[in-house]
Amino acid sequence: MNKKAFIFDLDGVIVDTAKYHFLAWQKLAQELNIEFTTEHNEELKGVSRVRSLDIILELGKIDASHEEKTKWLIQKNEVYLSYLVDMDEREILPGVMPILEFLKENNQLIALGSASKNARPILEKTKIIHYFDAIVDGNDVSNAKPDPEVFLRAAQLLNTSNKNAIVFEDSVAGIQAANVAQMISIGIGKNEILHEAKFIFKDFTTMDFDFIEALIKK
Ligand code: BG6
Ligand code: MG
Repeated sequence: MNKKAFIFDLDGVIVDTAKYHFLAWQKLAQELNIEFTTEHNEELKGVSRVRSLDIILELGKIDASHEEKTKWLIQKNEVYLSYLVDMDEREILPGVMPILEFLKENNQLIALGSASKNARPILEKTKIIHYFDAIVDGNDVSNAKPDPEVFLRAAQLLNTSNKNAIVFEDSVAGIQAANVAQMISIGIGKNEILHEAKFIFKDFTTMDFDFIEALIKK
């Protein structure tokens, strides 16, 4: 049986945390009197915390000092973390567990490729950390998506080539990163937003095992 590397993004792919990131940024934007919509939020998906703040400040045409930015980054993260206090496996998105199980049963490699610095505690709280043969998160890379570093590093840790990897992503930046890395990009979300992906699914419940099997055999 072929061994492929399946690399999962975290926020908005494995767990429904994209909404918490949005709420936390929205709270900060409100305090700074910046209009911040769900449409603006698409640009923040997949990118680092620091870059996200810069995008919001650009929207509000605010020129902030390093100290102010540091304060707001901490503030945003504290609000975000407050949503995670009671987090458990119920937060795992529909269809994710059967796919993880199927990949394990078929001896496939599984990695996490996330921009988040909060990734490990989330995998622990949701009790799925043991599924991952490699974890690369925001603490491990210096270049955020759309740079391919996070995915290339995951493939490297799995001792496999980039062309052997498949990436599940809900963000435009993440799909672009996977494409630059020459990996098979699979968008989880809306066609209109993720059109650069090689394949797109609304969510994991609409992806069947035959599709995964075909990827393994490729
Ligand atoms: C990505 C999210 O996974 O991680 C972004 O899509 C988020 O919205 C980024 O800003 C960084 O996350 P964190 O947890 O380090 O602030
Ligand atoms: Mg994501």
